[in-house]
Amino acid sequence: MRHSNPTPDEVRALIDAELHREGPLLPILHAIQHAFDHVPEMALPLIAEALNLTRAEVHGVMSFYHDFRKAPAGRHVVKICRAEACQSMGANALSQAVLDKLGLDWGGTTPDGSVTVEPVYCLGLCACAPAAMVDGKLIGRADAARLAAELEGAA
Ligand code: FES
Repeated sequence: MRHSNPTPDEVRALIDAELHREGPLLPILHAIQHAFDHVPEMALPLIAEALNLTRAEVHGVMSFYHDFRKAPAGRHVVKICRAEACQSMGANALSQAVLDKLGLDWGGTTPDGSVTVEPVYCLGLCACAPAAMVDGKLIGRADAARLAAELEGAA
């Protein structure tokens, strides 16, 4: 079912499939993101209604977890670690260089749909900070040139 333009019925079916769980909100958000590569705005009131929450509560949880996207990602996803160990090793400058080069803010996608840049909070690669990930591939001691090369290789 992976496509990026769900109908309310498709979203409702995913919600219903997770409703039996204890603490169903995160599983529901994950299921929707897995199916559609993002959690569309239109899903929020459907989730809120099913769980008897306000839309703001659903939105609050969704924005707390940086894994959830409001829009489908580009063909390639670069994640750059923003947690402490990486910050102390220059992750901020790295992020800024990458975002500036692509003309993006966090979570943004290039106009041609090729690259999305997202923050991540510890990839477990702290000893090799700053750490990043390109299309699921971990990269330690990342720098802007290395990330650009990975992206070219993945293109
Ligand atoms: S702090 Fe960046 S990988 Fe752990």
